Amino acid sequence: MRIAVFRTRRAFIPLGVIYALTAALLELSGLPSDILSLSVADAQRISDSVKNVKVFGPSPLTSLKEDDLLAFSLADDPSSPLSSTSASPVIRVAGANDRVVLGAYWIDFVSGFDQHDRFSQWVQSQEPGQILIRHEFWGEPLNAISLEFKDTAMLKEIVGLFPEIKLVEPVAVYSKPKTMSIFMDNIHAFMSTREKDLSNVTPHKETGVAQVHESLKLFGKGIKVGIIDSGTDYKNPALGGCFGKGCKVAYGYDFVGDDGKSPDNDPRSTCDGHGTHVSGIIAANSTYFLGVAPQSTLGSYRVFPCVGSAPNDIIIKALLRAAEDGMDVINLSLGGPGGWNQEREALVIDMLSEKLGILVVAAAGNEGDMGAFEMGSPGVSRSAISVSSNENPYSSSWYFVASNSSKVTTGLDQNQPRKIPFLGDKVMDLNTTLAQIAPGISGNVTADACKPTTKDIKGKIVLVRRGDCTFAQKLKNMMKAKATGVIIINNLVGEPATSVSKSGLKIPVRSISREDGEFLLKQMQSQSKNGGIRIADGPSPITVKNTVGGLLSNFTSLGPDSELNLKPDITAPGGNIWSTFPLSMGGFGSDSGTSMASPYIAGCAALFLQGRPKSEHNSVAFKTALQNAARPILDGNPQRFNGPASVLQQGAGLVQMMEVLTSSVSISPSYVSLNDTLHLNGRQTFTITNLGKNPVTYRVDLLSAVGLTPFERNGTVAVLPKKTFATASMKSASSVQTIRVDPGSNATLDLDFSGPKNNPLLHVLYSGFIRFRPEKLDKSTPMISVPFLGMKGDYKTVAVFDRSFGLR
Ligand SMILES: *[C@@H]1O[C@H](CO)[C@@H](O)[C@H](O)[C@H]1NC(C)=O
Ligand SMILES: *[C@@H]1O[C@H](CO)[C@@H](O)[C@H](O)[C@H]1NC(C)=O
Ligand SMILES: *[C@@H]1O[C@H](CO)[C@@H](O)[C@H](O)[C@H]1NC(C)=O
Ligand SMILES: *[C@@H]1O[C@H](CO)[C@@H](O)[C@H](O)[C@H]1NC(C)=O
Ligand SMILES: *[C@@H]1O[C@H](CO)[C@@H](O)[C@H](O)[C@H]1NC(C)=O
Ligand SMILES: *[C@@H]1O[C@H](CO)[C@@H](O)[C@H](O)[C@H]1NC(C)=O
Ligand SMILES: *[C@@H]1O[C@H](CO)[C@@H](O)[C@H](O)[C@H]1NC(C)=O
Ligand SMILES: *[C@@H]1O[C@H](CO)[C@@H](O)[C@H](O)[C@H]1NC(C)=O
Ligand SMILES: *[C@@H]1O[C@H](CO)[C@@H](O)[C@H](O)[C@H]1NC(C)=O
Repeated sequence: MRIAVFRTRRAFIPLGVIYALTAALLELSGLPSDILSLSVADAQRISDSVKNVKVFGPSPLTSLKEDDLLAFSLADDPSSPLSSTSASPVIRVAGANDRVVLGAYWIDFVSGFDQHDRFSQWVQSQEPGQILIRHEFWGEPLNAISLEFKDTAMLKEIVGLFPEIKLVEPVAVYSKPKTMSIFMDNIHAFMSTREKDLSNVTPHKETGVAQVHESLKLFGKGIKVGIIDSGTDYKNPALGGCFGKGCKVAYGYDFVGDDGKSPDNDPRSTCDGHGTHVSGIIAANSTYFLGVAPQSTLGSYRVFPCVGSAPNDIIIKALLRAAEDGMDVINLSLGGPGGWNQEREALVIDMLSEKLGILVVAAAGNEGDMGAFEMGSPGVSRSAISVSSNENPYSSSWYFVASNSSKVTTGLDQNQPRKIPFLGDKVMDLNTTLAQIAPGISGNVTADACKPTTKDIKGKIVLVRRGDCTFAQKLKNMMKAKATGVIIINNLVGEPATSVSKSGLKIPVRSISREDGEFLLKQMQSQSKNGGIRIADGPSPITVKNTVGGLLSNFTSLGPDSELNLKPDITAPGGNIWSTFPLSMGGFGSDSGTSMASPYIAGCAALFLQGRPKSEHNSVAFKTALQNAARPILDGNPQRFNGPASVLQQGAGLVQMMEVLTSSVSISPSYVSLNDTLHLNGRQTFTITNLGKNPVTYRVDLLSAVGLTPFERNGTVAVLPKKTFATASMKSASSVQTIRVDPGSNATLDLDFSGPKNNPLLHVLYSGFIRFRPEKLDKSTPMISVPFLGMKGDYKTVAVFDRSFGLR
């Protein structure tokens, strides 16, 4: 019987202890170093023979069953050879669930170690093929190298030979950030008014970016934005059409190539739309929409191959390369629920941001269905801006029109052509007529295309109704009969089916609503004698109202970090975002995810750097300005909760770029982490700085947000935290609720917070906003809201072991 060692998911056991414990396990049991699991006998041996080790688990240990929770902890005894403060190196091995590059390890040296040549020579003197140097990172902030071992037993030898080694740990991998579109998009409210006006393609009115473009004439000119992602199809004219000096995408490098093994100087990729989509959000200039900072210069650093994930040594290489190329802003495509801010990548980000003044922006993550404490790492890094997503008020999609003539510009039964919006593949050969297999004009027939057909549909686009068998089955049958493409008609009234999955089949597929499908079927019937029906694509997208527009996206990950620091920091539109795609995928399209929200803020960073004075060009001033200006977003259930959504979801709220650029008042701290009740950071001192020409007086009050109960009764994390009322209170230490600040000076205000009355055993995460309302609302003196967050109860009593754990 073997028993997994479950490591802490969310808190409490310092990483140093885990390292030391791992070293102990290796030392004592001679375990294969890639598997962190052990037998009952080994577990007992460790607890019996190692001083200071405490085993948490069923008692007595002999009653352990497979899959029982078990953990080890070391007493904090500095004289213990296993203490985290001891000088012996820490060896961290991968658990069975950990996502790592097999055989690849980071070797970290103490910071003074400078005999890099001696080490490299030793590596090269080994038998060929035994050890491969992956990447070298000599200097600051890492003094490290990543190596690939044929046999990881050599790790021990290295550690013996080089006492300067302080840490050995596996090279971890990050997945390509998942986007939220199943098929392609998730468009709501298809049947509402179809707008002709393309000014709603972007959410720039809601964020003030439109006003920044129009009245401040700022477009990010001269600012370099680095993109660490899946590459960019810069051949798309909206992204400049070229690569290199003088082009919009002027910098870049491909660290992986299509196959993951062929790095080169060209970051273009066409097999994946992700990096191209986010590039457009930052900097597109197309005839009908603009990115946030369309005159900024991009650097595209490709770390994701067509299929597969990215190792963290390559990601760090890309970060350092972006810094070397002089990027002012870096948008980071690292996902993966983390929660700890001392990870290796976070250290590098802190260095880039604190030493070089680079603004680093990262997504909060798309784990909104996994409950609290799911902040993406390393967005949790203190100096990175972690961005959550709200819904675009409008969503855009491509449409086609139908006609019996080859000119296909007018409709059949109307003067205006009927625009039929669709989800799915833009690229489809339309030079053919439409066909159907199951007869009739109803969008709801039984088993359409569920069986192989003998009908001649070769080279035609087939209209297929949804239902009775899988999409894959229908598509396979249509491919067998050599159809050119398939249009899926929903069998339910309303929007097109969003769940259409192609299961990897290589046939173009579009999904349309039942109403539009029945319209087409009717036309086919009436025009069958006139040569049938053809379709043609509209030249630009149409936009429709999004019924949940403005609200927080359901997918956006919840904070806080594992030590109850307030995260995420800010919200930007990430749900239903229209942007560029590779030309081979149709050039433009819609996508959803915090992956779309974070480049929005990267673009805002470019506007900030262009529009604010040099003295503010650092991550602290940027974060303060963003958070001060942001507008709290209301909870999606106004009947029940007539207030803002939890700060765990939105940080400071929706970005407001006009205020960021025009405000002359700044309040710090711009966010407050109150901690749990036992460690309440109750006294908070705010400094209000007035750089304007007139005195300003602020009235202060507190606005509670919806409270969330993060755990189930049995201690596991609730995937859907229960909403609850939780009202903190606040009073001014000097019993003053208004504060006046003279021009060119600052004033401080002490506020004392106390937690809400909720049951401490529920560990409710309460939050809200401290509002500073100016007596005279003005462009330069806007209302400022400072988000706060705390936990009612004792955080240390929460159970922390969780078997669904797949993290490092
Ligand atoms: C977008 O491109 C057009 C055509 O090149 C150019 O005239 C326009 O100034 C650009 N817009 C911005 C904001 O740079
Ligand atoms: C459309 O198809 C017809 C018949 O197959 C062919 O003659 C014609 O060249 C095609 N047109 C285009 C633009 O491909
Ligand atoms: C479509 O037909 C199925 C069964 O044939 C039926 O259950 C369903 O209610 C119908 N849907 C609509 C929207 O009429
Ligand atoms: C297309 O349909 C219209 C209206 O039904 C008909 O008048 C016209 O002749 C048709 N055109 C062709 C080319 O068949
Ligand atoms: C989130 O999901 C709930 C329940 O399915 C739904 O009612 C709500 O409209 C969704 N909100 C958004 C912003 O999509
Ligand atoms: C909360 O208190 C604990 C214990 O003192 C500390 O480790 C943690 O960093 C604190 N977190 C915050 C956000 O202050
Ligand atoms: C920005 O970062 C997010 C994740 O942090 C990523 O999903 C997105 O692709 C990145 N965008 C660009 C343009 O690199
Ligand atoms: C804890 O409770 C939740 C909700 O009742 C349940 O879904 C989950 O399976 C329970 N977990 C354990 C480990 O008992
Ligand atoms: C506030 O003003 C004082 C004196 O004018 C100055 O020394 C201090 O640095 C200012 N504090 C901040 C946070 O700006």
